[in-house]
Amino acid sequence: MSIHQSSNIKRITTHTLQEMKNRGEKISMLTAYDFSMAGIVDAGGVDIILVGDSASNVMAGHETTLPITLDQMIYHATSVVRAVKRAFVVVDIPFGSYQGNSSEALRSAIRIMKESGAHAVKVEGGAEIRESVVRILSAGVPVMGHLGLTPQSIYKFGTYTVRAKEDAEAQKLIEDAKLLEECGCFSLVLEKIPASLAKKVAEKVSIPVIGIGAGPDVDGQVLVVHDMMGITQEFKPRFLRQYADLRTQMLKAVEDYIDDVKSRDFPNEKESY
Ligand code: KIV
Repeated sequence: MSIHQSSNIKRITTHTLQEMKNRGEKISMLTAYDFSMAGIVDAGGVDIILVGDSASNVMAGHETTLPITLDQMIYHATSVVRAVKRAFVVVDIPFGSYQGNSSEALRSAIRIMKESGAHAVKVEGGAEIRESVVRILSAGVPVMGHLGLTPQSIYKFGTYTVRAKEDAEAQKLIEDAKLLEECGCFSLVLEKIPASLAKKVAEKVSIPVIGIGAGPDVDGQVLVVHDMMGITQEFKPRFLRQYADLRTQMLKAVEDYIDDVKSRDFPNEKESY
């Protein structure tokens, strides 16, 4: 039964997520960027929906997450929030809207919360964005951190390969995770780092750690919904498990429709007024 058919839906909160970590229950998280997909993902019972800036790639066709704007993120978030009855909705603050200026970070977070009705924001980075994180948290906005492969810094890294394989970067990542926890972040995403390092981080911090390409020993997992549904096909990293082949099914539906139109099979008498 879908969650939406149940009469008493209990909303997920930061408190629920912390309790899940405390009792060792894994947290499920998926992205969504629009009303229809968010409705499906929420009805399926996912715990967190991330309105990721991966919308820049998946929805808009950009090569990186850098071009998406704050207004565009708010548009996606607003559509998602309208569909969601249970999940905790987190929204990425996009590139250029929080780094280096904590007043702007606060303004961006407040716009997201006020205009979309989402429940939290996510930011990429550690010590270098500390001031912005603290400022956002001071306004009562829950913040999720994001360490490891942080796609907004792709031009600094140069590639999308696994991060923190060397000791110095691994040590900085552990320090950043502890710092984000001390600042008051309610959760962390770790992207594309060695599983042994992710395990260490999840043990060292008491807040929930959600992994993507970070192995099994973290508190939850996140995937981009279009990747796990098999809608996007060119992106096949090792960490991606594909649960459906929707692109093939959708292509077939489009071809069948065209055939029916051309052959005058559609619409038939029952489909006409
Ligand atoms: O934007 C996004 O989809 C993300 C996930 C990959 C964690 O940040």
